[in-house]
Amino acid sequence: MRYSEQSLPVGVVSTPLSTLEADVLVVVAFEGEAAALSPVGGADQDRIAAAIASREFSGKPGAVFVTPCSSPEWRPARLMLVGAGRRSLFGTEQVRRAAATAGLASRERRWRRVAFALPAVLALSDEAQAAAEGLTLAAHYTAIYKNDAEARPLPIESMIALPEHSDADACGSAERAAARGYILAACSNLARALANEPGNVLTPRAFADIAVQIAAESGLKADVLEEDRLTGLNMGLLLSVARGSAEPPRMVVLRYEPVRPAAGAVLGLVGKGVTFDTGGISIKQSERMHLMKTDMSGGAAVLGAMKAIAALKPEVAVIGVVPLVENMPGGRAMRPGDVVRGAEGKTVEVLDTDAEGRLILADALWYARQLGATHLVDVATLTGAIGIALGRTTTGLFGSPDAWVALVGRTASRAGDRAWALPLFEDYREQLRSDIADLANVGGRPAGAITAALFLKEFTGGLPWAHLDIASTAWADEAQPWQPKGPTGVAVRTLAELACAFDEWPAPPA
Ligand code: BES
Ligand code: MN
Ligand code: ZN
Repeated sequence: MRYSEQSLPVGVVSTPLSTLEADVLVVVAFEGEAAALSPVGGADQDRIAAAIASREFSGKPGAVFVTPCSSPEWRPARLMLVGAGRRSLFGTEQVRRAAATAGLASRERRWRRVAFALPAVLALSDEAQAAAEGLTLAAHYTAIYKNDAEARPLPIESMIALPEHSDADACGSAERAAARGYILAACSNLARALANEPGNVLTPRAFADIAVQIAAESGLKADVLEEDRLTGLNMGLLLSVARGSAEPPRMVVLRYEPVRPAAGAVLGLVGKGVTFDTGGISIKQSERMHLMKTDMSGGAAVLGAMKAIAALKPEVAVIGVVPLVENMPGGRAMRPGDVVRGAEGKTVEVLDTDAEGRLILADALWYARQLGATHLVDVATLTGAIGIALGRTTTGLFGSPDAWVALVGRTASRAGDRAWALPLFEDYREQLRSDIADLANVGGRPAGAITAALFLKEFTGGLPWAHLDIASTAWADEAQPWQPKGPTGVAVRTLAELACAFDEWPAPPA
């Protein structure tokens, strides 16, 4: 497969709303205040008032109401009210969702030109970035293997409308913010496109080929380690997972080097790249196994983030490492009880071959350190247990020291990838004790997401490290007005924003 962009860049305009050449003009309305909405859009104010009075339109997040702009002085064909919820809860995530809701609703109705009026409640540039993200996220499309070309969404030309009397400075900063939002969301869509690909298409080799293509297009350095080099580096944990598959493993390394590095720090991003996870000999039940095509979502997030970083050009070096394997049962597959040795020398007793993500990540975290990373973040669809702990909308966050974990958490909220920290108390370590080796690869059902994170911690060499468990957030089982069923692209924006926030990083240990 090759990857090509589905979305068009987002424009910024500051001319009067009545002059916009648009199929639909989108205006944000707050819940409980819709009645106080100032008259907009040359639309029939009585119809709007009636829709609000009858509660046809509530202003709740995801709510949409469309009415024609009948006034002859108005160029936009229609007005769309989109709900943003209560004003007291309003933030950039509400702008992002309102814009995505409007984009998806317009796409459904086959309107091409969408103008989104900023509510001008928050800082204008924050609103512009979030709106550009939402509008761009709405371009993602999953049914790519359908033959019916008619069913494909039209590419949407979206524009952000600033308040009418915005000065040149405000316009300039809103334009830069919208360009930034477009990059971040288009790269989230890249990660979504990869997570959507079936396991027979997106093998470790195919993923590596795409990574090389993306690197070449974006000016990143790429290195793909094949089996001989992985063997030469003694990556026994990764290689033991790969053994059961006819598809050979790969390790993708992408490097971003700034022209003028402002800091000596190097961010190491590591993403789980299991292109399909059957569980191996400890095979999974078949009912939801097809979703294990998404077990490379962490790797896709790292690739998407590296592409965004290459475009945003922060003044800090970043290395992306994606270990790629397919976890299959077979005559050569690793067995429960096997003892394997990682590149760093630690031995692991594999009690469950379905706990494969931590094995490949262990060797990848070690390799990121060898390449000079001073600060680590890994992203992985690591455990079913995280969904039991936090549900389907919050990513699990782990790591140390607290300052690094807190920065990753704040950055995630800002990026619209909410994450919440869980503890790594020493007591849990006992669950990973093995009778025969340094570590067991599973620690039983209690605190399953925590013991998985503690396993990874053994391979971080004491560097500042954060782990994002996206097993329950990488794929949406149910559609929302702002988020269709399918891959979410979670963590791309967090990782890219983190690289841009390097002035807030804690110092690495001396
Ligand atoms: N890829 C799975 C985790 C997963 C589960 C991702 C559901 C997305 C949705 C991972 O490799 C796995 O199988 N984890 C096991 C660990 C267990 C054997 C300790 C799990 O969560 O059951
Ligand atoms: Mn597994
Ligand atoms: Zn897995």
